[in-house]
Amino acid sequence: MSIKLGVNIDHVATLRQARKEVDPDPLAAARVCKTSGADLIVMHIRQDRRHIQDEDLFKLRKAGIHMHLEMSTASDIVALATKVKPDSVCFVPERSGEITTEGGLDLKAGGKLIEKAIAKLKGEGIEVGLFVDPEAASVRMAKAIGADTVELSTAKYAKTLGKHKQEFELERLELAGYLAHELKLGLHAGHGLDYHNVVPVAQIPHMACLNIGFSIIARSVFTGLKTAVTEMKKLINSR
Ligand code: PXP
Repeated sequence: MSIKLGVNIDHVATLRQARKEVDPDPLAAARVCKTSGADLIVMHIRQDRRHIQDEDLFKLRKAGIHMHLEMSTASDIVALATKVKPDSVCFVPERSGEITTEGGLDLKAGGKLIEKAIAKLKGEGIEVGLFVDPEAASVRMAKAIGADTVELSTAKYAKTLGKHKQEFELERLELAGYLAHELKLGLHAGHGLDYHNVVPVAQIPHMACLNIGFSIIARSVFTGLKTAVTEMKKLINSR
């Protein structure tokens, strides 16, 4: 089974919002990503709307491109998702002022709220995933509160320096992955993945989808988006 690539295009919108112009257009970027091998287009609708805007979601939906929405459980965001009806969503923690998502959800503290939000979106026929750290307790809890998939956070793996420490982080991902598979949860991963660190994560048994944004958009400045996406898709399936 080939591994799916979700390309996160938030940073195309970041560039557009720097001037509040119409270019670069995230929808145009999504089209290039799709024709270059992306299986799904990932967007994070943040409460502060710092990059992706509500209109971007409706435009992508209208274009019929497979849409994976990253979002918090804030009630207005959940209400927006019920209107947009993405193919799938992933609940992520969101802290105002953070530079990027800082880690997996705290399912112990937020479990009840997240469970309600999962039920609401699943009721609309949307596949629901949870962004979690690679820990057994989080994966078990994700299953218990009704998630369809888990997206394991690769942030720590990506940031860790040194062969042995990185191998340790990879093992944590592998173990969490086995557990997710055993519990019949779809297995996804992402955050901080780039052209240098992605292959070992792609080799994790049962991995179905990798969601990658920053490294692809950063590389596209030099190579163009088509080449950046094509190279990543090739790399993750080079096992
Ligand atoms: N997965 C999740 C849940 C995220 O929040 C993000 C960042 O928006 C990504 C994947 C992509 O991370 P990166 O931009 O570092 O590739």
